Amino acid sequence: MPDNLTLLISSPEIVAAVQRLAQEIDRDCSDRSPVIVTVLKGAFIFAADLVRAMQTPIQRMEFVRFSSYGSAKISSGEVAVHMGLEPGSVLNQDVIVIEDIIDTGTTTAKVLSDLQEHQPRSLKLCTLLDKPDRRKVAVSIDYLGFTVPDRFIVGYGTDFNQRYRQLPAIYTLDEP
Ligand code: IMP
Ligand code: MG
Repeated sequence: MPDNLTLLISSPEIVAAVQRLAQEIDRDCSDRSPVIVTVLKGAFIFAADLVRAMQTPIQRMEFVRFSSYGSAKISSGEVAVHMGLEPGSVLNQDVIVIEDIIDTGTTTAKVLSDLQEHQPRSLKLCTLLDKPDRRKVAVSIDYLGFTVPDRFIVGYGTDFNQRYRQLPAIYTLDEP
């Protein structure tokens, strides 16, 4: 392991949280078949594990990609859509959005407002990580894995300059 990384959440802790979240979703979806909308790139590993832990039949998997411009560690507040939804894919559907981390909340707020325009029947938010200290835009989280401190996080899908996504645990990236 590179020595600039410090373990924050171990692989077994992630597995347990994913199981817990899958059970919470299963309980809420006993009479419905949701559309899962995964926010790329960061949520790809979390979503892949989460859907395999769920018993609920999923209507379809959709993927969107948004990005906030700015430096590698600080988002600028401007969010661009790189890949939107297929037309009609969530119309009148129960949608669960899967995020990796919510920091200022800017990206997630934009994802949710864009999704609302596609007229889902319901919209819920599931995030693996919440970093509430730097929140600028309020977002309401329905399913939460872990609250994390105001540190830069990598691993299990999250990156620094595109690196470290493949790590099976979650680390803080130490300042050089
Ligand atoms: P926002 O500030 O909530 O809009 O977060 C924007 C995006 O920045 C998130 O979706 C992540 O992709 C990324 N991000 C925020 N904090 C971290 C972090 O600690 N590690 C890795 N990526 C992060
Ligand atoms: Mg993200």
